[in-house]
Amino acid sequence: MARAKIALIGAGMIGGTLAHIAAREELGDVVLFDIFEGTAKGKALDLSEAAPVFGKDSKLVGTSSYADIAGADVCIITAGFPRKPGMDRSELIGKNLGVIKQVAEGIKEHAPKAFVICITNPLDAMVWALQKFSGLQPRKVVGMAGVLDSARFRYFLADEFQCSVEDVHASVLGGHGDTMVPLTRYSTVNGVPLPDLIKMKWTTQDRVDAIVERTRKGGGEIVGLLGNGSAFYAPAESAIEMAKSYLRDKKRILPCAVRLSGQIAGVRGLYVGAPAMIGARGVEKVMNIRLKADEREMFMKSVAAVEKIIADCQEMEPSLK
Ligand code: APR
Repeated sequence: MARAKIALIGAGMIGGTLAHIAAREELGDVVLFDIFEGTAKGKALDLSEAAPVFGKDSKLVGTSSYADIAGADVCIITAGFPRKPGMDRSELIGKNLGVIKQVAEGIKEHAPKAFVICITNPLDAMVWALQKFSGLQPRKVVGMAGVLDSARFRYFLADEFQCSVEDVHASVLGGHGDTMVPLTRYSTVNGVPLPDLIKMKWTTQDRVDAIVERTRKGGGEIVGLLGNGSAFYAPAESAIEMAKSYLRDKKRILPCAVRLSGQIAGVRGLYVGAPAMIGARGVEKVMNIRLKADEREMFMKSVAAVEKIIADCQEMEPSLK
């Protein structure tokens, strides 16, 4: 059977880490694409030279030509610019929207059957624009945010309980970052929900609230520590989890930015984080979670934040209206 082909659009910090994981796990052959051809080619060659040491046979190539992504099974997009000090939000949106438009056209022309995972920020609006620009089926275009947000939440909870991260599950909804909605009643240790763990005195409501807040600001905490750049290991691992579920038809239920059609709080046509089944057909199902009043309020706040960025995008790019 032919190997899967994985196109990584953007060969920066996350792109390089994605290539490393994909090669080590022999997920498929990897094409690293970047406007800086040397970056893409250099990372592909460095990893190819590492492959004999870790003993895996994935082929890696670097390129700045979209023709090389032809027939890719999966495309993971990290192309774009980070927010620099002094850059305002709309400047960042404008720059990354232009990048996403180019990427969408490249994928539409050369890899229209791919499962596309977007990581570029501001995530929920960029993945929405990517689907619009490319015209690909919404079930084949998703955004990576929830797996990362829930991984951060899980790590902080495991640290609080001093237990294995493997036994902690966390459920999150909504937009990426500040407006993320943690579903504490669906977040568990060995199946026991957080509200019960509070009653069992494993923790307190205040400590859970602080963990939720830290999770929401998780990206910023890393940016502050690194001083130059943003998180890359956890975002890359998270996107690989999604790619694997598609390539191996695992039907994992993962929180992803998906285009809703009324499953949660009646929201339609927007990309927002929700638990989705990822299998060989892409997004095969979105869990229609019934929200309680306070959760719904937080979710709608998150939806409003995503809508606002989309309105900015539409102003900059009238073709998105
Ligand atoms: N086409 C292809 N690649 C591009 C383009 C473009 N039009 N514009 C920029 N790039 C490339 C840059 O050359 C750079 O190598 O995208 C890469 C981005 O890499 P980094 O700056 O290292 O950013 P990274 O940390 O990988 O994050 C990428 O993910 O989490 C989000 O906010 C983050 O939007 C950012 C993205």
